[in-house]
Amino acid sequence: MDYLKKILKYALPYKKYAVLNVICNVFYALFSTLAMVSLIPMINVIFDKNTQIKTKPVYTELSGLKDFLSDYFNYTITSKLANDGAESTLFFMVTIIISLFLLKNFFGYLALYFITFLRNGLLKDIRNELFNKIVTLPIAYFSEKRKGDVISRVVSDVGEVQYSFLSILELLIREPLTIVFAIIAMLFLSVKLTLFVFIFIPISGLIISAIGKKLRKQSELAQKERGVYLSILEESIQGLKIIKSYNAENRFFKTFKSSTQRLFGYNNALMNRQNLASPTSEFLGVVTIATLLWFGGHMVLIEGTLTGGSFIGFMALAYQILEPAKAISKASYSVKRGNASAERVLEIIETNNPLKDLPESKEINYFKNEIKINNVSFKYEDEYVLKNFSVTIEKGKTLALVGQSGSGKSTIANLTPRFYDVNEGEILIDNTNIKNLKTSSVRALMGIVTQDSILFNDTIKENLLVGKPDATETEIIDALKIANAWEFVKDLQNGINTNVGDSGNKLSGGQKQRISIARAVLKNPPIMILDEATSALDTESERLVQVALENMMKNRTSIVIAHRLSTIQNADTIVVMHKGEIAEQGTHSDLLAKNGIYKKLVEMQSFD
Ligand SMILES: Nc1ncnc2c1ncn2[C@@H]1O[C@H](COP(=O)(O)OP(=O)(O)OP(=O)(O)O)[C@@H](O)[C@H]1O
Ligand SMILES: [Mg+2]
Repeated sequence: MDYLKKILKYALPYKKYAVLNVICNVFYALFSTLAMVSLIPMINVIFDKNTQIKTKPVYTELSGLKDFLSDYFNYTITSKLANDGAESTLFFMVTIIISLFLLKNFFGYLALYFITFLRNGLLKDIRNELFNKIVTLPIAYFSEKRKGDVISRVVSDVGEVQYSFLSILELLIREPLTIVFAIIAMLFLSVKLTLFVFIFIPISGLIISAIGKKLRKQSELAQKERGVYLSILEESIQGLKIIKSYNAENRFFKTFKSSTQRLFGYNNALMNRQNLASPTSEFLGVVTIATLLWFGGHMVLIEGTLTGGSFIGFMALAYQILEPAKAISKASYSVKRGNASAERVLEIIETNNPLKDLPESKEINYFKNEIKINNVSFKYEDEYVLKNFSVTIEKGKTLALVGQSGSGKSTIANLTPRFYDVNEGEILIDNTNIKNLKTSSVRALMGIVTQDSILFNDTIKENLLVGKPDATETEIIDALKIANAWEFVKDLQNGINTNVGDSGNKLSGGQKQRISIARAVLKNPPIMILDEATSALDTESERLVQVALENMMKNRTSIVIAHRLSTIQNADTIVVMHKGEIAEQGTHSDLLAKNGIYKKLVEMQSFD
């Protein structure tokens, strides 16, 4: 229950509904007992076993309440029978019975009505909180987690938590109250018989709780497996092109099938155990009732200590206990499942964000002098991919990073906006370590074009507005022009309102790049970080992208990662990287004169 308890704080804003639910449930429990009790005089009248009371009883003291109530009731019926006749008395009693059942169900519905707002509110708020947490967590968190697993937590685990919350409320209020009221009424009818019933309930309870033991584990396994198959599904849709081109459908289908097969096993075990609960408790219930019939029948027929009507009423009440008892045993399963899910939900919500701003972090509102990467060493996992890397970029200058694949170029582009924290050394903007600056203000200074152009399934316009939500249409078009994208956007049927498809796959590679450049241009930040896409473009689109890059670098401080060396010939500093270290550094002509790695790279490319 520990995790569910923590979830309780999400119910707080809706506590008014919980209160209303509780109030209605009190009435529900009360009326369901009264409805059963109201059957007794009816039966007594039908079988002419009604106790005749001709004088109006007077209320004296609390201990005599029971006798007073039953006497009063019998008096009312006796006089009604005498005055209006049997027909009308029956009608009167039927009306009472109907009204009581109506009230019971009315309050039952009302209780559910109110709790609906709490349940769905909880669902909404936890999902929102999860999303908010997911987008604030550092990128590293998700390199380790499967996407499908995260999705399954947001979708199905939250649903499970919501469901079990209702069970808990019912468990705490509705069912126990129904039982308590029924027991009070039963005690009124016969103390002896009631005690007899109570020998059986604990025995049933023990048997039922034994079934629930293994359930938590099974449900955890099932939830985890759900994450696995969602991940496979997600990746397969994402990589459909590769799957098809390599005829790998079967291979992926096999992994998917093996996951659903495992889920099949877990779910079977889980459901069969759950299904066992209901028949077990029903059978145990019937055993109790049968024994009661035997014992109570004895009291009516042989001892004569109980009227037939009271006995039937008593039986109805005892049955009335069975339903909530069953519900309680069922609820304990769903609470266990809910708890397992709550744990998975809270695991994300409570993850400590290592990149959180410190309370003393300052805003940086403008960029004045320089970015300094000072002796930085960094590793994603075990191996250092940057070693004692130092470089300074002055305002208005361009730093170009070149080097073989895997040498750590994109890593620099990841560290500067603090997607990851450095392991050693520091990154300074105007002499302040970015760890001591508000991360959002650091990122506000930077425009980032990633190596894989990331576009969202939305219109071109919306994709650009990510960078500057209040931009006007003219600004958008200007940005597209600078990025050399307007020439194709203007010919699209819906212009900037054209949808780009999932991850932008309705556009060509070069078009995607230019749109993501336009997005950075629209933001108009003082610092640009460009990670040029490695994908080979034809000479025409390469030229278009290159012009776009050059336009965007004008009058800005830029870090450019270039695969086409022609892009960076005019850079103020070119750093040639090799396995996370600086191999050579200088201007284009310096480096050519050096006759080293850079020269070789240039020669190789002109040879291409
Ligand atoms: N998220 C990650 N988790 C673990 N290791 C990573 C991660 N990203 C990159 N690496 C590793 O870090 C090293 C440097 O990667 P980086 O992306 O900086 O190379 P790059 O110079 O940009 O290469 P390319 O020219 O191919 O884009 C590589 O060896 C890579 O395997
Ligand atoms: Mg890279």
